[in-house]
Amino acid sequence: MKYRLLSMLAVSVMVLANAVLADPIVIKFSHVVAENTPKGQMANKFKALVEERLAGKVKVEVFPNSQLFGDNKVLEAMLLGDVQMAAPSLSKFKRYTKKLQLFDLPFLFNDLAAVEKFQQSPEGQQLLHATEKKGIIGLGYLHNGMKQLSASKPLRVPEDARKLKFRIMSSDVLAAQFKALDAMPLKKPFSEVFTLLQTKAIDGQENTWSNIYSKKFFEVQPYITESNHGVLDYMVVTSAEFWNGLPDDVRAEVKKALDEAIALGNKVAYEKSVADRQAIIDSGRSEVITLKPEERAKWVAVMKPVWKQFEGQIGKELIDAAYAANQ
Ligand code: SIN
Repeated sequence: MKYRLLSMLAVSVMVLANAVLADPIVIKFSHVVAENTPKGQMANKFKALVEERLAGKVKVEVFPNSQLFGDNKVLEAMLLGDVQMAAPSLSKFKRYTKKLQLFDLPFLFNDLAAVEKFQQSPEGQQLLHATEKKGIIGLGYLHNGMKQLSASKPLRVPEDARKLKFRIMSSDVLAAQFKALDAMPLKKPFSEVFTLLQTKAIDGQENTWSNIYSKKFFEVQPYITESNHGVLDYMVVTSAEFWNGLPDDVRAEVKKALDEAIALGNKVAYEKSVADRQAIIDSGRSEVITLKPEERAKWVAVMKPVWKQFEGQIGKELIDAAYAANQ
């Protein structure tokens, strides 16, 4: 009896010691932008919150600036277990779902407030599940901002973009949008954009004020047209295998930390869309072109027919629901 009690005690001590000494769960979070951006700040806040609340249990390693993977590779890497979390632009999910192409439709949303309204609606929340069949779970949306067009020449009307080469994210909708302008779209990773612009291998690109500023595109693009023609937002994702394998209490705490980090990232996104725009103007390196209403109407007229091309893949009801968020 005495021996049985002693051996039970020994086993309990070992289990306890194992629990205490167990290696922490590591979450590698890979992204492509600078740390002083909405996504960069969100990821750093997430790390701080998780490591404060789950000290010793979970460690978060953040890899910014495409240090670990570019956005075109990160989802593959996640499914292989090489990273556990990422937040690619919604334009980069084409291999996993066609539904998210919705967010690339030109002139669908008037501003970030409409984007937010749609993302929080039942239809928007449902889209977080769009990649689940492929083993990828959407944990939440994160804003960056509305996109602007930068180029080596002033773009005031759609004809100004004819025959110019534009870098785009890996999205067929964005390719169609530039083809509608009779321009040449080139799908290239974010990490290559500055060099492509600097060496004049391309003439222009589309991006948010925050990305144009933090990656210094404005230093090699003399003109930026304030077109607000599309949105660049993110989905924070993880692999189903990793997420479902977490202990319930850890998963709940990680999700709570993520929601708080996203709230901070969204606040940064609103602030940066004003501050980085102003910083670019103040730099004097790039002229910011404001479109007259009749000029803007011409861009809308040329680009909006792209919706029809993708209606079958995205779904008309979804497009209508997103458009209704402008009211
Ligand atoms: C990002 O904001 O994550 C990258 C956007 C891009 O590829 O242009």
